[in-house]
Amino acid sequence: MIVPTYNERDNLDELVRRVIDACKGNGLDAEIVIVDDNSPDGTGARAEELAKDYPVRVVHRTGKLGLSSAVLEGVKTARDSVIVVMDADLSHPPEKIPEMVAKITSGEAQIVIGSRYIPGGGVENWPVRRRFVSKIATLLARGLTKVKDPMSGFLAFQRSVVDGAPLNPVGYKVGLEILVKGNYSKVAEVPIHFANRKAGKSKLGGTEVMKYVDHVIMLYEHRKPWLSRYLKFSVIGGIGALINTAVLWIAKEGFSVYYLWAAVLGFCVASTSNYILNRYWTFRSKSGIPGQYVQFLLVSICGLLINLAILKGIVEDAMPALGIHEDKASIYLVVANLIAIFVVSIFNFFANSLWTFEADTRHMRKRRSRRDR
Ligand code: GDD
Ligand code: MN
Repeated sequence: MIVPTYNERDNLDELVRRVIDACKGNGLDAEIVIVDDNSPDGTGARAEELAKDYPVRVVHRTGKLGLSSAVLEGVKTARDSVIVVMDADLSHPPEKIPEMVAKITSGEAQIVIGSRYIPGGGVENWPVRRRFVSKIATLLARGLTKVKDPMSGFLAFQRSVVDGAPLNPVGYKVGLEILVKGNYSKVAEVPIHFANRKAGKSKLGGTEVMKYVDHVIMLYEHRKPWLSRYLKFSVIGGIGALINTAVLWIAKEGFSVYYLWAAVLGFCVASTSNYILNRYWTFRSKSGIPGQYVQFLLVSICGLLINLAILKGIVEDAMPALGIHEDKASIYLVVANLIAIFVVSIFNFFANSLWTFEADTRHMRKRRSRRDR
């Protein structure tokens, strides 16, 4: 049993008492590992006091290092084979622990979530804003797990679920991290009523929300590395098209540059910004910049030539063959160009994945081929 704490002194006594009572009544002898981040309110000292009378162990960390990393630290320290994680503020009913643990020991599941969003569960008069944020956050995680309440901080799991899993200690949602990356075949949910915290303040603020969005993006990347990279690549490509157009227009209208040179300039500026964004966002690359940049430009130029070739092929060969003899400024030209852009985006994406950023995608391809074998 792991309880991360930051300024929870006034909740500890009741928490420990209720956990012990709930477990004893069901023949469980749980050890409570409290992971405290040097709380200014003296939670750590209070926990040490409790450790004298109860099966409590305290891990003291030097400062506020974050909720997920506290939980993972607790996993290393805990000795039980079934691990329960819960908040210290009594939002999570300790009385549900035996039911959750039972589902694991019976083999019904390897992870059990204390869920607010299944029949029988709920939240205690939350303000509209928090309800809304919670719902949006849950929606964002839809594609990652079927669990109805993947945001829950109340969960139980078999130790083997996290052994060797590449868990990332950032963010608030260690449960979601475990659901996405853990080794398990079955997950169950037990309804809980999420009570408002007894004492102290919530630590969930605006920056945690931003970090959550970043966390979710990373988890999607983990699940579908090629698709999420392609989507990022396409978003950047769209931004590049806008930059390209803006530079062309400014150069021509503002500085009277000959329009073809203005177009070349737009292409160069957009390719450069595309390179930078893809390097740091899509591929999170750490390799040397100059060679990579040249490779990226070469791919972009090939892409441009392919774009023109496809466009020419559609307009001059395919359309006449289909009996379409519109003039070239018509809607058909736009459609033809969209088709060309789509093909080129795929070409550019794979050329850059397999050549420009080869070193950064290599491990991904290895994993894929291992799975296929
Ligand atoms: N050690 C440590 N370090 N503990 C922390 C830290 C930290 O940096 N930040 C928070 N905690 C502890 C708190 O002391 C508490 O025991 C627990 O983590 C949850 O923190 P709260 O501040 O009570 O979070 P919350 O109520 O806003 O969020 C809870 O509910 C969410 C569902 O809406 C958490 O359980 C979330 O995980 C959950 O998603
Ligand atoms: Mn709370």
